[in-house]
Amino acid sequence: MTDKNNKNNDARSWRPQTQMVHGGTLRSQFGETSEAIFATSGYVYDSAEQAEARFKGEDQGFQYSRFANPTVAMFEQRMALLEGAEAAFATATGMAGVTAAILSQVSAGDHIVAARALFGSCRYVIEDLCPRFGIDVTLVDGADNSAWEQAIQPNTKAFFLETPSNPTLSIVDVAHVGKLASSCGGQLVVDNVFATPVLQKPLQQGAHVVVYSATKHIDGQGRCLGGVVLGTETFIKETLLPFVRNTGPALSPFNAWIMLKSLETLDLRIQQHCSNTEHVANFLAAQPDVENVLFPGRSDHPQHTLAMQQMTRGGTMIAFTVKGGKDAAFQLMNSLEIIKISNNLGDAKSLITHPSTTTHQRLSLEARAELDISDNMLRLSVGLEDSQDLCEDLARALTR
Ligand SMILES: Cc1ncc(COP(=O)(O)O)c(C=O)c1O
Repeated sequence: MTDKNNKNNDARSWRPQTQMVHGGTLRSQFGETSEAIFATSGYVYDSAEQAEARFKGEDQGFQYSRFANPTVAMFEQRMALLEGAEAAFATATGMAGVTAAILSQVSAGDHIVAARALFGSCRYVIEDLCPRFGIDVTLVDGADNSAWEQAIQPNTKAFFLETPSNPTLSIVDVAHVGKLASSCGGQLVVDNVFATPVLQKPLQQGAHVVVYSATKHIDGQGRCLGGVVLGTETFIKETLLPFVRNTGPALSPFNAWIMLKSLETLDLRIQQHCSNTEHVANFLAAQPDVENVLFPGRSDHPQHTLAMQQMTRGGTMIAFTVKGGKDAAFQLMNSLEIIKISNNLGDAKSLITHPSTTTHQRLSLEARAELDISDNMLRLSVGLEDSQDLCEDLARALTR
């Protein structure tokens, strides 16, 4: 194995499509073309002295796969290149990543400001879990720039948001919140799941930390769970690593390998997902039985201009309301043939869910009303099928 086949020195200057195919590749002595799966929990040392040196950080190499693993490291390095981050740590799920990114940087007595419009489990971590450990939380209307500023307290340490949010597709001004966070010595954590690393780069816009559920578009084929946290070398090494090394949310090498191989096609897939979503959103908006369509790529989205400043395309997700209540929404879902009922998203298969009875069921009626998650709202993750077939499936279901 020559060094030539492990050359990655210029990877930061490669274009994203090249980074997604070659970034972070670490070839073994066998010179394999495709990345290897290092299915090992531990590593052997040449001597007791080497083991001691490695634990002291004086000898480069792996110690234990809860800390680091070669296949996982390839995925982390590829993601860091793509995101323009200095460092990354991969986690077993997106929620493990969100939880670690938040809890690793706050202590009892600190304060967090977060957008109200969040995925149900993210909201649980912020709203229910953090206060149990003495961390104060203020939830704000993420679209209201002044609300973020007004919520800041002397003990504010972290800011958290999703943009576009799940499922209401509301947009937060990342540059504004990032600046506020920096000005008070805090850190902005952005959950970039809906936008994907292809369409939006929060670190370039002023965020300090980015988190993904790799379960979604990064895998993209509904096969396995995973997550990743990205940020500066200082944040990952000094704040996040002590937390994750000891609490243990590490990604398995096998799942890291699936994510690595999926990254090779991420750009192609996202571009096609976006084209299909644009077609389906326009189709839905023209249907008499559809009340309202929310898609950041359409000019009738209330924050379309901001969305298009932050994202290169409108994304892969649509929220829409049908005429009638929950019954009409359920009837539509039950009449679909190609589009499957599932609360997952970012899959090659188009998936539809009813947020008020699934992902956001835990929220009170008032909390759902505050977010405009009504009983007749549906969330559609548009897949890679022929978009005309998807429109015909929806048309058939709407007629029924
Ligand atoms: C915005 C957002 N963040 C985080 C997650 C959690 O990801 P995971 O299921 O991989 O834990 C999800 C899952 O749907 C999500 O939509």
